[in-house]
Amino acid sequence: MRGLVILSVLTVWALNCASVPTRDTSGRHWSCDEKEKEPGARLAMLSINNKHFHGYKFQLSNITFSTVEKGQSDCKLHLELDLQETTCHIINPKSFEECDIRQDYETQVNAHCNVTLSITEGIAEVSKHSCNTEPVSAEKMVRMCPDCPILLPLHSPEGLESVKAGLRQFNMDHNYTSYFKLMEVGRIKSGYMMMTGMNYYAELAIVETDCNAKSRIDRHACKPLCPDEARHGLCKSTLLGNGQVDVNCEIYEALNASSPRTPGRECGHPPHHIH
Ligand SMILES: *[C@@H]1O[C@H](CO)[C@@H](O)[C@H](O)[C@H]1NC(C)=O
Ligand SMILES: *[C@@H]1O[C@H](CO)[C@@H](O)[C@H](O)[C@H]1NC(C)=O
Ligand SMILES: *[C@@H]1O[C@H](CO)[C@@H](O)[C@H](O)[C@H]1NC(C)=O
Ligand SMILES: *[C@@H]1O[C@H](CO)[C@@H](O)[C@H](O)[C@H]1NC(C)=O
Repeated sequence: MRGLVILSVLTVWALNCASVPTRDTSGRHWSCDEKEKEPGARLAMLSINNKHFHGYKFQLSNITFSTVEKGQSDCKLHLELDLQETTCHIINPKSFEECDIRQDYETQVNAHCNVTLSITEGIAEVSKHSCNTEPVSAEKMVRMCPDCPILLPLHSPEGLESVKAGLRQFNMDHNYTSYFKLMEVGRIKSGYMMMTGMNYYAELAIVETDCNAKSRIDRHACKPLCPDEARHGLCKSTLLGNGQVDVNCEIYEALNASSPRTPGRECGHPPHHIH
């Protein structure tokens, strides 16, 4: 059982717990009433998505429980929420509300979160949240779609080979001046096909670095540009059993508002342009 839990965490990026409060800045007056559960859930979703530095954005699917705990002059609103994973990686500048929910047959990931909002003098803040994430079970996947590719752990050696192949291909094809490196692996799936054998399908998040795309220096030395200067991208790569590589990347310009604020990430400056 324990092995299963660990596997599911390695297969998908879990949602972090957070204890840094997110305050509502809209100017709305909040009351100590269970009617606040819907706006409360929206504020909670903003907070959960903002404090989540890996993987994909989530959307609310259901409020399963809510209760108000009244204090002297303030109160706490406790919520239990069901969340669904979207197809927008956290580097995607779209708001989570505009993102598409991942389909069941793509091994959807669901999360269940406990959230506490503190309401003081009409102002609400999300004071804590904790979430469990879980992909659709293997049994359900087999029932729904026996031939669909299955999700592999994020560190699967064959899967990582396909990630490397996809990244290499993207860097050979693109016309940007900088070299892009892997930021993280989003998900890896594999499936068997008669014609080609075992195929690997990966989603990888990439980031622009301080190295020139054409220079031949050791790629390990390339540092990602600082979040407000770096383009980011989400690539979908396929490595067929016959060695054929196909990669397709969506590149996001360096938008200061939506760049991932990964704490403590070392970053460099753009390569000098030769005039
Ligand atoms: C939402 O949660 C309620 C309460 O647990 C439950 O009765 C209802 O079936 C859920 N709806 C969906 C769509 O899951
Ligand atoms: C949420 O709270 C319920 C009831 O207190 C508990 O059983 C569950 O484990 C909690 N879930 C998370 C993700 O903290
Ligand atoms: C890069 O530029 C070349 C020449 O203009 C063009 O043929 C190729 O399609 C471009 N590559 C991409 C990925 O846009
Ligand atoms: C970056 O932030 C500055 C200052 O807040 C703003 O003026 C600018 O429009 C932003 N740039 C982009 C690309 O969003």
